[in-house]
Amino acid sequence: MIVGEAPGFNEDRQGEPFVGAAGKLLDTLLARIGLSRSDVYITNVLKCRPPQNRDPMPNEAEACSPYLARQLTLVRPKVVLILGRHALERLMPGQGSISRIHGSMVKRGDIAYVPLFHPAAALHNGALVADLEHDFDRVKIYLDKLLAPPPPPEPSPVVRQESEQLRLL
Ligand code: URA
Repeated sequence: MIVGEAPGFNEDRQGEPFVGAAGKLLDTLLARIGLSRSDVYITNVLKCRPPQNRDPMPNEAEACSPYLARQLTLVRPKVVLILGRHALERLMPGQGSISRIHGSMVKRGDIAYVPLFHPAAALHNGALVADLEHDFDRVKIYLDKLLAPPPPPEPSPVVRQESEQLRLL
């Protein structure tokens, strides 16, 4: 699951998250680790576009939080990618800045959270693209570990004894 900030102009018109320029960069980053949109559930902290694309206000994030909470309950993600400081503040309040913790994984209950720079920030500051690429490579490593099928159970001592006897025969 991926959580962004809020719908922008294009998202508002189309009713889909991340369909503009930031979404194109997000698609490229997903493709880098072998994923496409059909593999992920994408949503935002705010469900409506703030006027003039201004930052979400705390009371707006608060008003939308039951929807986000319900989405988390229904989707039951193993991993949540947190895009940008507003999603970070909502999902992991008091964790400090994205610049400090981006790319790290924090496990809370059944969910592993990975804070990342928002792709829109990388559209303004090209230096962040390399950080995002590096962090997505780390996301792939986390996913490979977290989604790996569990190892087969150890055979019980009796079964092991029998198979050892068979080997001796
Ligand atoms: N930025 C976001 O945070 N969300 C979108 O859906 C689009 C741009």
